[in-house]
Amino acid sequence: MQNISFSYVEDELKKVEEELETHLITETPLIHKVAKYVISSGGKRIRPILLIVSAKICGYEGGGHISLAAVIEFIHTATLLHDDVVDNAPLRRGKSSANIIFGNEAPVLVGDYLFAKSFKILSAFNNLKIIKAYSDATTLMAEGEVKELVKTADVKTTEEDYLDIIIKKTAVLFACASQVGAIIAGKENDFARNLYDYGLNIGIAFQLMDDALDYISDEEFGKFIGNDLKEGKLTLPLIHTMERADKKEKDAISKIIYKKKLTSNDLKMVLGLIKNYGSIDYTVSKAKEAIEKAKKNLDIFPDSDYKTSLIDIANYIIERKL
Ligand code: IPE
Ligand code: IPE
Ligand code: MG
Ligand code: MG
Repeated sequence: MQNISFSYVEDELKKVEEELETHLITETPLIHKVAKYVISSGGKRIRPILLIVSAKICGYEGGGHISLAAVIEFIHTATLLHDDVVDNAPLRRGKSSANIIFGNEAPVLVGDYLFAKSFKILSAFNNLKIIKAYSDATTLMAEGEVKELVKTADVKTTEEDYLDIIIKKTAVLFACASQVGAIIAGKENDFARNLYDYGLNIGIAFQLMDDALDYISDEEFGKFIGNDLKEGKLTLPLIHTMERADKKEKDAISKIIYKKKLTSNDLKMVLGLIKNYGSIDYTVSKAKEAIEKAKKNLDIFPDSDYKTSLIDIANYIIERKL
């Protein structure tokens, strides 16, 4: 399974796509050009889907969730534009990333535009709880990206530091998506809290899997192996290995982390150690743990097709290859 969607969500997702397009029509064509380039490049739309299903499981029957789902994708897109500049990433969704096509300046500014536009769309809801949910998430995401930057090439990064970073940079947006589904449905109670925790847990698992895939993914899925290592980013597979490696191995890894250029031999060496110490299996087992917690967060909901969809989304995160 490479993508996830549900037949009852398809029509609503089409409306989300239309809305994304409508909001990009401005007097400045470069905004449309850059945003359109990344938005139409084949994202999985997992966050909008999450928001729509969460609204439905809470009994929402109105139409406001479409704009809210568009906003969650706009925010996601803005962070990707910025993240690829910061990470100097060559590829996004199997294609040249926006920074390669347009240079760094335009993606930074268009990312800002998408953030600003998102809050303009939200202001029309006149609902402070919704604004708070999105502004809490975006503030934490920015903090997570900065913390990750500060920790670049820091070989003393701990699992705890790492968890804090991934909760902030990735998981809170998943949590926001599912919580907002409950808020728009007027369920600002246990439903909202449990959906927030469900989103947070699947978001943690999502980034854990992403970081495992960075070492084991097949390049046909549009990512280069070893990108995180090349950038000096210490993710859980490497942190776990560093904690177990002997002095000689640690020194060798540190040297590679500090180096500007990563050779195929460097990558082979680190990959060998990561495999030897079972660090990929450890990372995947942590992701599975988070998914089990996420499923428990759904216990308060009676069985329904929507609940099954949320469980499917959770399972998909462990199975995905891109
Ligand atoms: C990529 O997220 C960024 C991370 C949090 C790892 P997705 O994998 O959801 O990105 P798209 O939108 O489907 O490309
Ligand atoms: C996730 O970080 C991106 C954001 C949450 C902004 P990464 O840098 O690990 O994600 P990829 O690998 O570029 O998708
Ligand atoms: Mg990145
Ligand atoms: Mg990054």
